[in-house]
Amino acid sequence: MCGIVGYIGGRSAVPILMSGLKRLEYRGYDSAGVSVLKNGDIEQLKAKGKLSILSSILKDKPLRSRIGIGHTRWATHGAPSDENSHPHMDCKKEISLVHNGIIENYLTLRQELEEKGHKFLSETDTEVLVHLIEEYYEGNLEQAVSKALKRLEGSYAIGVICKKEPGKIVAARQDSPLVIGLGKNENFIASDIPAFLPFTRKVKHINDGEIVILKRNSVRIFDLDLNPVEREVTTVHWDASMAEKGGYKHFMLKEIFEQPRVVTDMLSGRLKEYSVEIEEMKLTDDDLRKINKVIIIACGTAFHASMVGKYFIEDFARIPVEIDVASEFRYRNPVVDENSLVVAVSQSGETADTLVSFKNAIAMGAKSIAVTNMVGSSITRETENMIFTRAGLEIGVAATKTFIAQLVAIFLLSLKLGVARGTIDKEKFREYHEALLRIPDQLSDVLKKAEQIRNIARKYYKCDDFLFLGRSLSYPIALEGALKLKEISYIHAEGYAAGEMKHGPIALIDNLVPTVVVLPRDSVYEKTLSNVKEVRARSGITIGITNKTDDPLDEYLDETIFVPDTSHQLSPILTTIPLQLLAYYIADKRNRDVDQPRNLAKSVTVE
Ligand code: AGP
Repeated sequence: MCGIVGYIGGRSAVPILMSGLKRLEYRGYDSAGVSVLKNGDIEQLKAKGKLSILSSILKDKPLRSRIGIGHTRWATHGAPSDENSHPHMDCKKEISLVHNGIIENYLTLRQELEEKGHKFLSETDTEVLVHLIEEYYEGNLEQAVSKALKRLEGSYAIGVICKKEPGKIVAARQDSPLVIGLGKNENFIASDIPAFLPFTRKVKHINDGEIVILKRNSVRIFDLDLNPVEREVTTVHWDASMAEKGGYKHFMLKEIFEQPRVVTDMLSGRLKEYSVEIEEMKLTDDDLRKINKVIIIACGTAFHASMVGKYFIEDFARIPVEIDVASEFRYRNPVVDENSLVVAVSQSGETADTLVSFKNAIAMGAKSIAVTNMVGSSITRETENMIFTRAGLEIGVAATKTFIAQLVAIFLLSLKLGVARGTIDKEKFREYHEALLRIPDQLSDVLKKAEQIRNIARKYYKCDDFLFLGRSLSYPIALEGALKLKEISYIHAEGYAAGEMKHGPIALIDNLVPTVVVLPRDSVYEKTLSNVKEVRARSGITIGITNKTDDPLDEYLDETIFVPDTSHQLSPILTTIPLQLLAYYIADKRNRDVDQPRNLAKSVTVE
């Protein structure tokens, strides 16, 4: 996730671009840059690090112009560096481009362009697009952009300027956000409305597959074939902080609702007919065949994703998997050798315990993979094998979309191991492939239950204790549901393996304690249902999350939240969402500081 901005009008462009980027910093902040048209040339400044670094460079070297584009980056391809920062330019330095999204077929395009003599300066996927536009440029920027975009697979929101056509910005979008701000004798592009909110509240929304030409006095929208398209103007009434959250009350809620898009991005370009391509992972199939043990280490929510990962890997690849919280792993004397694979899962890539444990296992000879959301984070410096979770910057301290992305990452890794080791056949692979592709739409269906879940939260938000139960793959999800509730609402919540109930926790049940049961239709459904009945028999309140619609569940459940059917291995991705929403609505009803709960930090860099 990155932020893009553009300005054309009568004022000085750079301060407007910089103020827009400042408001988009929530989308990423590992590097930033601007480029402007000045005296018939393109001038640009870009720098690794937060926007403040670019600001101070601009103080010494001001760029004066009335047209420009800018970018704040959150790396997906190529670590944060000056070279990988946007804008990117073509070989002749005539065209400059900013991009948010992922170009899936960039390696093929890059090879094709290099064969034609184009010289690349960065490791990014984005740079291919500016060279492609250069290749097609014959005096009309929008025509070149249209031709280039037709060659792309993936997602994009772009802004492009060209020194030969100094009176226009060309922008376009496909699966990445882009809005147009309409001013008086000035116009704006941005990834999100807050970027231009201080200057205008009049907005045109751009749809997928559309190209926009902005001039000082006009905004024209076209389809990809450059046929004109009409779009009404809307007026935004949000205040700046609401606008930054996309109209949601909290970042956490916004991030929960981003999850369909996150899964789409996670799968983008990675699933082939009978293989999983993870570009940032260098281990070969031969390496994967030699592994005789997998150790997954992580903390908190990432540990819950790792627990699910154990089921995936043992099921698909038939390798024994050991999981441990990193703060424990680092103080034991684990059995690790060169045939072990250590997988560290960390959203931030900075968690101290996870980092040290990972280094220790690598020092003992293990092969290694880091699953992280942060390209260029400390953990990525320990290994040459990564799986980036492409969830975009997560601002809410409670992890939501990064958890779902971690589940998908480990699922993909398990499939990859299974294919390499011959433990998963083509037919099974195809089934999972198809099931995965359905997940984004199914997630959107689960999100439609938000109002129902909000009503459930209103009923039970005063309860002081909650239990969460699940078996098999749903056990870690129960733990995650309990963690979400306690960290943002400060309610005491316990997650248990459902079969453990009768070994102690059942003593807690009375008519004031809601038990949330994760109950998908799987091989342990009947067993978990028996546990629900045990809770009911003791007057407990029961809230169930299930895809089993042919049972008279009302008899056993006070509240039932239905999720769509999927392969049972993928059910954790769907059953997690109601738990996130329940925690959110309960915490909000209790007026908690949802995005920054007390005593917590987004990344725990101390032991
Ligand atoms: C999750 O909601 C928490 N904020 C916390 O448990 C978190 O998952 C944990 O600190 C691990 O962080 P990491 O993924 O950045 O390593």
